Amino acid sequence: MNIKYIIKKDIEQALSKISDKNYKPLIMLTKNSKFGHYQVNNLIKISNSFNIKPNDLFEKIILFFKKNYMYEKINFSEPGFINIFINSSWLSEELEKIFFSPRLGIKRFSPKNIIVDYSAPNIAKEMHIGHLRSTIIGDVMARTLEFLGHNVIRANHIGDWGTQFGILIAYLKYEKLINKLQNNLLTLKDLEHIYCKSKNKYDSDEFFSKKSREYVVKLQNGDKKCHSIWKKLVYITMNENYKIYKKLNVTLKKEHTMGESTYKKMLLKIVQDLKRKKIAIEKNGTTIVYLDEFKNKSGNSMGVIVQKRDKGFLYSTTDIACLKYRYEKLHADRVIYYIDSRQHQHLLQVWIIAKKANYIPENLLLEHHMFGMMLSKNKRPFKTRDGNTIKLSDFLNEAINRAKKLILTKKPHLTHKKIIKLANTIGISAIKYADLSKNRSTNYIFDWDKMINFEGNTAPYIQYAYTRIMSILKKSTISIHKLKQKVLLNKPSEINLAIKILEFEEIILLIADKGTPHVMCKYLYELATYFSNFYEECSILFCKKIKICKSRLKLSFLTARTLKKGLNILGIKTVKKM
Ligand code: ARG
Repeated sequence: MNIKYIIKKDIEQALSKISDKNYKPLIMLTKNSKFGHYQVNNLIKISNSFNIKPNDLFEKIILFFKKNYMYEKINFSEPGFINIFINSSWLSEELEKIFFSPRLGIKRFSPKNIIVDYSAPNIAKEMHIGHLRSTIIGDVMARTLEFLGHNVIRANHIGDWGTQFGILIAYLKYEKLINKLQNNLLTLKDLEHIYCKSKNKYDSDEFFSKKSREYVVKLQNGDKKCHSIWKKLVYITMNENYKIYKKLNVTLKKEHTMGESTYKKMLLKIVQDLKRKKIAIEKNGTTIVYLDEFKNKSGNSMGVIVQKRDKGFLYSTTDIACLKYRYEKLHADRVIYYIDSRQHQHLLQVWIIAKKANYIPENLLLEHHMFGMMLSKNKRPFKTRDGNTIKLSDFLNEAINRAKKLILTKKPHLTHKKIIKLANTIGISAIKYADLSKNRSTNYIFDWDKMINFEGNTAPYIQYAYTRIMSILKKSTISIHKLKQKVLLNKPSEINLAIKILEFEEIILLIADKGTPHVMCKYLYELATYFSNFYEECSILFCKKIKICKSRLKLSFLTARTLKKGLNILGIKTVKKM
């Protein structure tokens, strides 16, 4: 149920009777229900363009407004607001519908093929803190769209192709490490170490760099030995990464891995085709696409290289091929990329080239949901004490350890096993929530102390609110699942809570559109707070009349279900006891 949307449409309908112009009324949930449950907030602005007083415009709107059962009353308040009161019997009927719906009444869409490109770590390197945002924000989007009935294709575009593999193979051979690798005796940490050393050698040793390039060619030509080494490198890396995904409660699995290597066979054809279509030209052996849409520092069209002089392909070439594949083979209707903001220009260029070459139609929905960085308290990028990037696994372990310490002080009597389990859930949830609750488009300051905190807009607060409601429900002798008694909404806190519960669909739709998990966090925080207000004002287990008890139990149960579903969309687990 999207009440805000209904109100907007009704007001728009009334405005369309008054003028041909297309006005966009701004509808808001109010903070104080004395001024209605909802408000039209931009009446002054609209009335200005009519050249009449807001109150006079209100009178006109009311003349044409189709006031149905949903509306209790509508009035005007100075200086220029329309206050809308929702009928509580109508609210009660809507709650009834969602109470018996396993999807909380949220309708399914006719399915679209939507690609969510997220996480995308690189091979032979451990995931670091820079991968967190893409991984968890992208996962929220995948879960949201899937819940709405879409066919979501999770795409983990891992960095598993390129010249670095020639260097790695050359180095593993040089250090006689191939057997160790094939016998699973090298860890990802070892590989990262080897990667650094091999790169240094490549830069300083000419013979070695020649060898490396030979291995690149061999690998590209499908040499069996090189291929099996490459496969092992990918396997060791991703094996560790899947552990991280599991720990993070992220839904990425093996079958979602569609790395750069997926498109390797397309690259040469793409370059030839771009040349044939006169989109790319060859200059001193390098193949370049010049784009008038982008200017370089000297004001000339910017060149995007798609093939180097040594015949190697680039990150852009792969992304062009990948987009072609996503449209032709995966029949994408919408492609959403979760990559940090520094790659925005790269994506725009790739999209333009793919359109120019007719690989994708003009109307394919392409979105870059970029995000800012995590900063430390001194507003610098979040790093280890010695200035290195923080490994994601170390970061997660630190969160779990901090949660464990907190649990030990609050619940020292729990068994060791329970403490570990709880610490895992609380620690990971807290990290995820701390990130997801920030507007993704900006940088944010990460603060350990604020994160694992039972107060404020944090995961523990919401999780605790959920367990508290569940324990209230447990105390009741009434079987809640089949309750026939309709919800009775009398007290303001009951009505506010009911409206908040019904707002859930609007929030989900907003995320599906914009990929902004923070609106869900804000919503869950408000829902939990509204429940607290309700709990303070209304007795749930000990009411004078049994029907009031039943009604309030039902409202509580709906709150708990909504909290749980909301957390689930965020990829955050609930716990039974805290
Ligand atoms: N592996 C890349 C990186 O670490 C991110 C890939 C994002 N996806 C894409 N289709 N380019 O920067």
